[in-house]
Formats: sequence, structure tokens, C-alpha cells
Amino acid sequence: GQAERGGYAHFMLKEIHEQPRAMRDTLSGRLDPAGGRVLLHEVGLTPDEVKALSKVAIVACGTAANAGLVGKYLIERLAQIPVEWDLASEYRYREPMIDERTLFVAVSQSGETADTLAAMREARSRGARILAVTNVVGSTVAREADWVLYTWAGPEIAVASTKAYTTQLVALTLLAIWLGQHNGRIDPAEARALVDALRRLPDQADRVLALEEAVKAAGEELARHNDAFFIGRNLDYAVAMEGQLKLKEISYIHAEAYAAGELKHGTLALITDGVPVVALNTQPDLVEKTISNIQETRARGAFVLGLAQEGDEETPRYCDRIFYLPRTHRYLMPALAVLPLQLLAYYAATARGTDVDKPRNLAKSVTVE
Ligand code: G6P
Repeated sequence: GQAERGGYAHFMLKEIHEQPRAMRDTLSGRLDPAGGRVLLHEVGLTPDEVKALSKVAIVACGTAANAGLVGKYLIERLAQIPVEWDLASEYRYREPMIDERTLFVAVSQSGETADTLAAMREARSRGARILAVTNVVGSTVAREADWVLYTWAGPEIAVASTKAYTTQLVALTLLAIWLGQHNGRIDPAEARALVDALRRLPDQADRVLALEEAVKAAGEELARHNDAFFIGRNLDYAVAMEGQLKLKEISYIHAEAYAAGELKHGTLALITDGVPVVALNTQPDLVEKTISNIQETRARGAFVLGLAQEGDEETPRYCDRIFYLPRTHRYLMPALAVLPLQLLAYYAATARGTDVDKPRNLAKSVTVE
């Protein structure tokens, strides 16, 4: 009832609002601000073992896979280890080339997803070391891994994942910094900047959630459409993947995430008068490039909802609506940018009157392959 939803109309909305707390709990005890370091005592790799890694493999399904894609970018940037990213349901079919020098990272909210477990067992049989990033203590994924990095989101009831995703982003960011500190590839000043930015992140998430009323209005407009596009480059593309999934899962509006630079290689013909395009433009070095892609959609009549960093005066000039996000380290923007996209999906779904917490044909945890 209403009481167990903490006064919110749906578990999903309650869980969206729990994210600042969930991020704080996931960071708790893992930051050493004085030393500008990340502490992950639960991961048993020694510095020499981290230096000897030839690759990281990140494997997951659904929302966890979308978080994993952000993790790939961050581990490559911060620890300079090549990262492969795969959907768990596809992993075995390509006979992955991994061995003892591979760190296999299974990301799973529930820790019970059959596809993820099967991929993990495949990795184990090939000798990889296995780290689980999961939200459920004692879950099968946790029990079968060598080490577990818990997300402390608390129980997630709504089928559409929200706080699990943002805490997975936090956990994977911590892992990327930690790996970089252990193999010596991260610049200590950058690590310190990230640690400081991580400490500020939960409060900034609170500020983003205050956009709720404006996002609600946009969600109600979106509800009148049958198709939407989400575009962005690099980390913004990874977040676009999660934004489109949220929208599809609960509102049943067809949505597609496109790498902004790839639009012209396939999809532009589908952007016609009035088609909603959600444009993520949070990465400072890519602002101009993404603006040119926004213009491509505008020229064809798109209605553009933009997400940009506070202080960016360019992006809003090309958007019909703009949602400003607090400034943070560019690698942490995904955890802020996804919040309005979750609310957008939520309000599009409620405007359409769908069963938000239990969307059709979706299970919270899928234990068949
Ligand atoms: C199901 C859920 C998704 C979830 C996916 C992976 O398909 O509907 O929301 O992202 O499983 O779940 P996991 O528990 O492994 O993160």
C-alpha cells in the first residue's frame, strides 16, 4: 500500500528519490578523502596482479549491462586496461578469448540472472578471476564470484531498475579508480579530483531530482508520441542506452538510443516533424560535435529535449527544452544525467496510465536463459 511506498504513488518513484541515499551508502567507507584514494578491501587483487591484467571483461543484462558500458569507458580511461563489454546472453556464443589474466566483472542487481550466471561460469571455466557487482548479499552471483563489490541500493521492488543502476555506476567508478591506483596508471591529481567529486555527488543528485516538475511536464508531452530517440556521444551514449530502455520498459513508447555521430549513417530518415529527440550533451570536449548532430535532427523538425551542464550556454540555443545538470567531473555526469531520464519515463508512463511498477512481459529477475 501507500505506506510501504513511503507516501509515493509507485515504488519506482520512491526508488528514484532514494538514489542520493543509495549513492551515499555505496560510497560509504570506500573513500579516503585525505589521501585522495579509493579503498576496496573486498577486492583481493594485489597491485602486481592488477598490473598483470591483460583485460577486463564486463558482462551483464539489461540495465546492469547499460551500467557496465559506462564502466568500460571509465576503466579504459582511468586504469588503461582494455575492456570488453558483452551482453551476457550472447557471451558464450563468441567463445571469448579470456584467461587467468582477465578480470571478469559480472554486474547484476539481483545476482540471480540465469544469462549472467551462465556467462560467469563460462569465464570461470576459462580461468578468469571473477568480481561480482551486485545488490543482493548471498545471491548466487555473489557466492560464485571470487570477490564481491556490493551496491548498497537496498531492496529494489519496481521492475524498472533505477537506484540499482546509479549505485552500479558508483561501484564501477570506484573500481576504475581503484584499478588505476593499483597499477599506477591513474594520475594522482585526477584520482583526487574524482574522490572529491564523488563525495559531492549525492547532494548534486538531490538537486537534479528537484527538476521533477519540469520533467513531469516533458513526460506528459512525450506520452502523446509513439517513438522517441535518445542521442549522445561517449558516456552520453551509454546513458542514452539506459534512458531509452526506461522509456520502453514502462511507457511502451518505442525508443531508440543512437550514438549521435551514427545518426547520419542510418536513422535520420526516421526523424520527421515533431519526433521527440532527447539529446545528452554533458561531455565538455564533445559539446560542439553533439550540437551539430542536434542541428541535423532540428533541420528535420525534431522536438529536442536537451541535457547539458550548468554554464553551457550553447546547447540550449539548439533545444526546445533544456534540463541543466550541476557541474561535476565529466566521468560522473552519467549518474546525474540518468535521473531526469528516469523521471521522464516515469511521467510518460503515468500519463499513459500503464502499470508502472509491474510492466507487462517483464520480470524483475529472469532465471531462465
Ligand atoms: C531483467 C529486468 C531488468 C534487469 C535485468 C538484469 O530483465 O527486467 O530490469 O536489468 O533483468 O537483472 P540483474 O538482476 O541481473 O541486474
